[in-house]
Amino acid sequence: GNGGQAGLTAIREELGNCTRCRLASGRIQLVFGQGDPDADLMFIGEAPGRDEDIAGEAFVGAAGQLLTKMIGAMGLSREKVFIGNIIKCRPPRNRDPEPEEMSTCGPFIRAQIKAIRPQVIITLGRIAAQDLLATDAPVGRLRGRFHTLRVDDLEIPLMPTYHPAYLLRNEGAKRPVWEDLKQVIALLKEKGIL
Ligand code: URA
Repeated sequence: GNGGQAGLTAIREELGNCTRCRLASGRIQLVFGQGDPDADLMFIGEAPGRDEDIAGEAFVGAAGQLLTKMIGAMGLSREKVFIGNIIKCRPPRNRDPEPEEMSTCGPFIRAQIKAIRPQVIITLGRIAAQDLLATDAPVGRLRGRFHTLRVDDLEIPLMPTYHPAYLLRNEGAKRPVWEDLKQVIALLKEKGIL
């Protein structure tokens, strides 16, 4: 993309000191997401955890450190991609977001996608994949192939993969995740980006 910064700034201003859902009362701060406003690759997770709520930045805790390694293994860096979440405020005790929270916050990640216009999106875990692809299928059945994400006029290849927090608990998920990342690397090379 190009010109993503103006769009992202407008979205951040629209969010403001958001009190649209009950998560506002339990958070330290809203976590907007960060990285290159014109990134070719966008990572989308679920919601901030404790470390992210404190830092104000997405994926900075243990799962985030693993994500940083994954991005490095792809030949990229955190600064060259955009990292965000479906839900912008930490759910209490890291519980799953509720349907009302998903529908209230959902328009903002879609607006961020439209501002950034990435060439490809990787969703991390069940919540992001199921929300963006409007499906109830488990990540294990969705991962391993590209889906098409449609937001207004945009059609963006989307690769669902396991969440890095799941990877930290399940060594066995490392190989499938790397297979998914390799497919994204191949697509970026095909497009002349990597
Ligand atoms: N898990 C997520 O889904 N997002 C974060 O930002 C951190 C942990």
